[in-house]
Amino acid sequence: MKFFVDTADVPAIAELNELGMVDGVTTNPSLIKKSGRDILEVTKEICDLVAGPVSAEVVATEADQMIAEGRKLREIAENIAVKVPLTWDGLKACKVLSDEGAMVNVTLCFSANQALLAAKAGATFISPFIGRLDDINLDGMQLIEDIRTVYDNYGFETEILAASIRTANHVAESARIGADVITAPPAVIKALASHPLTDKGLAAFLADIKDAGIKIL
Ligand code: G3P
Repeated sequence: MKFFVDTADVPAIAELNELGMVDGVTTNPSLIKKSGRDILEVTKEICDLVAGPVSAEVVATEADQMIAEGRKLREIAENIAVKVPLTWDGLKACKVLSDEGAMVNVTLCFSANQALLAAKAGATFISPFIGRLDDINLDGMQLIEDIRTVYDNYGFETEILAASIRTANHVAESARIGADVITAPPAVIKALASHPLTDKGLAAFLADIKDAGIKIL
């Protein structure tokens, strides 16, 4: 399973990238706002750092404008994936841009039917938002499972990019179901290393190291 980092925080991306944890990056307008940076400038910096796909989202809502913005975003670097919302206009833009050879990430997906439409429009990635479904007491993981079944039934090659991931459990469940990619904030990716029994076991070892005066160097 590929790990994308869901942030426009360049130092945070660089830290994970050095460990080989970054197969790609996803951004959205809220993350660009949080970075306080110019979208074109920060996206270029991320593309220079990371070899895999870097999703940059259009800001228009009408297909022709989205297409024009997508073309401009693609000029930043070869590894840009143009992100469009799952609206009828977004699907039109997805079809045109993917026919031109662009990677397209269709975002804000909340149903298997929406995912089906994105695949038919040639999406490279579909981004179902797990956490936001959980927020309204629906089952985000069930959506990942449903899309996996639908895509496998018909051999769609669109990759399932599990998004709006908030917990380590979301990552483990996405992997169990067979999502192709997860995108998560840096803090969630780092939290995957934590386990209370690891902490407890290490504390016991450290106590014995101290008691016995064990030294290696
Ligand atoms: O990948 C989409 C993500 O940025 C949305 O996450 O936590 O704002 O629902 P969240």
